[in-house]
Parts: sequence; C-alpha cells; structure tokens
Amino acid sequence: MKNIILIGFMGAGKSAVGRYISDNTEYKIIDTDYYIEKKENCKISEIFAEKGEEYFREAETKALEDILKFRNNSYVISVGGGLPMREENRVLMHKLGTVIYLRATVDTLENRLKGDTKRPLLQGGDIREKITALMEKREAVYESAADAVIDTDNKEFEDVFKEIKEIVK
Ligand code: S3P
Repeated sequence: MKNIILIGFMGAGKSAVGRYISDNTEYKIIDTDYYIEKKENCKISEIFAEKGEEYFREAETKALEDILKFRNNSYVISVGGGLPMREENRVLMHKLGTVIYLRATVDTLENRLKGDTKRPLLQGGDIREKITALMEKREAVYESAADAVIDTDNKEFEDVFKEIKEIVK
C-alpha cells in the first residue's frame, strides 16, 4: 500500500485521522511533530522557545529525509501544519507517497483550536485573527501541494477515512 501523507492546517485532524487509519488498517503511523519531539527529546513549544522557528523548520525537513530513507510502503504520515510551506518539503512528500490535504474552514479550526496551549504560533492575541492570517498565506500552497483535497468540516474520522480509501485504492 502506497504511503499516505496528510497535510493541512493545525486542527485539521491530521494526527487524529492518521491514528484512526493506523488503528483500523495495516498502515503504521508516523507523526512528524512526535518524531521531532522524540529525536530532540524536547516538546515542540520548547524547541520554538529555546531554538527558534527556523531550527524547527530545519528539523521538519530532516524528519522527512529520515522517513524517506527508512521508507517502506504502508505508512500514514501526518505532518505539521507549516511543513508544506517549504518547497523542498513538498518535493520530499511527493517522493514519499500520495499527499492529501485535510481542509477545514476557519470556523471549524477556531472551534477545534480555541484554548490550545501547545501550538506556539497560536499563543497570545486573537486566535481567529491568527488562524485567518496564517490560512491566507498557506491555503493556496496546501491546495497546490496536494494530490487530493478532503473537506473535513462536520465529518467523522470514519467518513474522512472512507474518502481517503477511495483516493488511494
Ligand atoms: C505548526 C503546526 C504544528 C506544529 C508546530 C507548527 C504550524 O503541528 O508543527 O506547532 O506551523 O502550523 P499541527 O499541524 O500538527 O498542529
């Protein structure tokens, strides 16, 4: 089974859908944020605070390179929301497998993300404004980076999974 790479904004459900797939199929999950936290032995928020965002972005590219080296088939790989913004990362993702954009509206994202304390880019200030501003920068990149787009608003993981199965079959 070809690898599946899930991209999308924070709160789009990439990790949760990835886990659902790995719980219900032969696919094994890799989450780039989790991978980086284990490799650096440090939480993402601490990496941002202590080493800066650029360091984290480098770590994301290295994570994709690592995954590509030990790559086999049958992985579902959920990547951090900012990872597709680097062109080299988009090239690496396409080498890995089928890239699927899990899309959600600002309303949905705001609902899912309000009260979040783990994501450095959303702390302080008005969360809706932060989501809107980042989405404006990112949406076109997500769309052009993806082999397929799935709207996730008001859908259960199972529904999203069914759509993913149709895409990769
Ligand atoms: C980020 C998204 C986060 C994490 C980091 C930066 C981003 O991952 O990589 O906080 O730039 O959108 P999730 O998309 O899994 O929340």
